Amino acid sequence: MRTLTKLNQEATADVSADSAAARHELDGRIKGDGPLARDTVPYTNAHPHAQAHESAVKHVTGRAAYIDDLSAPADTLHVAMSLSPVAHGRLTRLDLDKVRAMPGVVDVIAVGDVPGHTDIGPVFPGDPIFVEEEISYVGQVIFAVAAESHRAAREAVQAAVVEIDEQPACLDPVAAAEREEFVRPTHVQQSGDWEHALKDAALVVEDEQFVGGQEHFYLEGQACLVQPTEDEGVVVFTSNQHPSETQKLVAEVLGIPFHAVTVEVRRMGGGFGGKETQASPWACIAALIARRTGRTARVRLPRAEDMRATGKRHPFHNRYRLGVDEKGVILGGEITVIGDCGYSPDLSDAIVDRAMFHSDNAYSLGDARVTGHRARTHTASNTAFRGFGGPQGMMVIEAAMDDIARRIGEDPLTVRKRNFYRPDRQTTHYGQHVDQIALLKALVEQLETSSDYWTRRRAITEFNADSPIVKKGLALTPVKFGISFTAKHLNQAGALLHVYTDGSVMINHGGTEMGQGLHTKICQVAARELGLDTNEVRISATRTDKVPNTSPTAASSGADLNGQAARDACVKLKERLFDFAHEHLYPDQGLDREDMRLEAGHLIAGHGESEQRIPWGELVQAAYLNRISLSEKGFYATPLIHYDRNVGQGRPFYYYAFGAAVAEVSVDTLTGEYQVDRVDILHDVGDSLNPAIDLGQVEGGFIQGMGWLTSEELKWNEAGRLISDGPATYKIPTYGDLPPVFNVKLMEGHPNSMASIYRSKAVGEPPFMLGMAVWSALRDALASLADYAEAPRLDTPATPERVLMAAETLRAKYDAWPLKKGGV
Ligand code: MTE
Ligand code: HPA
Ligand code: MOS
Repeated sequence: MRTLTKLNQEATADVSADSAAARHELDGRIKGDGPLARDTVPYTNAHPHAQAHESAVKHVTGRAAYIDDLSAPADTLHVAMSLSPVAHGRLTRLDLDKVRAMPGVVDVIAVGDVPGHTDIGPVFPGDPIFVEEEISYVGQVIFAVAAESHRAAREAVQAAVVEIDEQPACLDPVAAAEREEFVRPTHVQQSGDWEHALKDAALVVEDEQFVGGQEHFYLEGQACLVQPTEDEGVVVFTSNQHPSETQKLVAEVLGIPFHAVTVEVRRMGGGFGGKETQASPWACIAALIARRTGRTARVRLPRAEDMRATGKRHPFHNRYRLGVDEKGVILGGEITVIGDCGYSPDLSDAIVDRAMFHSDNAYSLGDARVTGHRARTHTASNTAFRGFGGPQGMMVIEAAMDDIARRIGEDPLTVRKRNFYRPDRQTTHYGQHVDQIALLKALVEQLETSSDYWTRRRAITEFNADSPIVKKGLALTPVKFGISFTAKHLNQAGALLHVYTDGSVMINHGGTEMGQGLHTKICQVAARELGLDTNEVRISATRTDKVPNTSPTAASSGADLNGQAARDACVKLKERLFDFAHEHLYPDQGLDREDMRLEAGHLIAGHGESEQRIPWGELVQAAYLNRISLSEKGFYATPLIHYDRNVGQGRPFYYYAFGAAVAEVSVDTLTGEYQVDRVDILHDVGDSLNPAIDLGQVEGGFIQGMGWLTSEELKWNEAGRLISDGPATYKIPTYGDLPPVFNVKLMEGHPNSMASIYRSKAVGEPPFMLGMAVWSALRDALASLADYAEAPRLDTPATPERVLMAAETLRAKYDAWPLKKGGV
């Protein structure tokens, strides 16, 4: 009898032979000398763990179901929102009678119709589900309409009589900080005598910078579908990074116990942090309607409303004053970051903390004081976005590195390397010892060589000397990113494992899938532990009734936490099966309990001559017939981490992930237009759980980071209305923005020094910050106009306009007009 494993192996052998041929052909085309030749590790199964995303085929054929694809009863209601047209004011009149009378309208709700909590602030209070009296931003939800069609609901919204007593809005976070208008108190981290360090310094560099925000631009917008259940509860299908929090908020808004609410997430069409807290309000509103009407309710925000109503990456205003020695090595100083939080706390406390934790990036700050303010402005409440404040914090020190290099007349890379954490300076300003500094050093050296940094540096200097208008720039920037939720309690995860009597395996865990490949990785973990092929293991949708009280899938820790929980469940079940096999199978021959293992679809005991093998399917059958449970749950909590916010010291991160990027750009200094000519990346993921997926994360993260710092510009008008509210006015990078030469590699041979899942490292957010190399390269190109005596201030996004302004300023100061040089 052929075992399940064998059948499966044969089936996959066929499939992979086909796809290997197809891939070969595709590789041939990609490697052609077109503008997009890419020297990345090809997506083959050459590496045993380099498996395709569990939904890859469904993604590209359109069979992957997103919220709007879910079939729903014919009488499903469609919900539309009324959004505030003013940034700040008082709602003085709300007359909804005409709305109720509009064709197709079934229900209309405002704050007075909420039976339970009306404040749905995720961590701290401050987010009313509907405007009560005070209006805090353009886009805030005033009321909602449920109708027979989406169109009817949207048209009905317009019929309301809304009167608002408008008040002056504050849109400037620096002004807010000066007036001490904060959503949360200021926090300080300090190590040593920073004032003394400044006094003793050979040189002091100081400046300020504005770092722009970012729209998430997930392909699937905010969406949910809510069904009423027969016992006063609801089932919520939502595009959501945090199902447990949505469960809690929906229950509180309805005034029912948590167990009456089930939340399910199969996948998101992208989250990027924008669905960590800000997917919940829509689920709460749809749940209210579902309960009031007894009908299924659907919310799908139109893109422009999504962009106006939800928060973005926090814009930051940063300041730095750092003392350095003659060699440009930082002795100490002070850094102040002001996060523009929008109107309410949301996750801003943790986000500004993470900006502070990363204001050193990979460099020792010496004796430093880092202060973080959380400014309140009248915009949507800014929220999590890939990097979670870390990128905005790192921009301070990367700006300083370039400034120091220009002041002392050395290459910025030399200055960066001198400032890296090193054996005599290995502790951060918040007291954490930085492990694996040798890895960072090796990684940067390897990239320096593979990218030909110094040869290209010379070539660029020569090119610029002869090229009065087009200037080239080059930069290498590192990344050190702390892995763990800084809110300690979130660092936990659960998993639920079922083995069915045909031997097939179902695993469920607390993490959500947003395209990052988490389910693929967890499936690989279970397959690896149980000695099975990955197609014998299936992951079902994330559901609050399977694994309870979960953390958001965020902080890049989805695979770290849930992978360990899944592994825990597998190990427990395995031990039970081993005990059973030892006691009950082949009792006359006996099976060696000590050395039992699950491998290649078998339970194997003993070695060599005495090795015994029982096919997995047989083992499972026998266990079932002997009434042994084939189900298990797993749990994991990250050890060692702690942070005392009262003193600003601790070890908030289990470990750090590292990476570095080299970018080369060409800038037309008469127009400010530029292009990215080449990018080389080397990124640390420890022992990769899946190199194919990790490479995709590194490439995607870098491009998203590059977009943030270059083309993605959020614009509000004077009245506080977001005017960049669609793809026509807000430019995200697309396929054509890929650098023509894009060499992306994963660092090899450096497993995680901490006992993470199979010594891998988190990959979701860290590569985002590799995009800083492009920004630094732009500054480098501009610095050539000043003969490298100065790097101009370059706020972000560094759009062509900003680049041109910086070029003009330098030209005026250094009298570096091209025509004088015999130019054009
Ligand atoms: N990759 C894709 N394709 N889509 C996403 O929405 N989100 C990023 C990152 N990579 C995201 C993504 C963010 S913000 C985080 S925190 C991590 O994935 C979350 O998933 P993980 O913890 O499983 O890595
Ligand atoms: N990262 C991402 N999301 C979070 C965090 C964090 O550190 N803390 C709370 N939510
Ligand atoms: Mo990611 S910003 O932690 O969801």
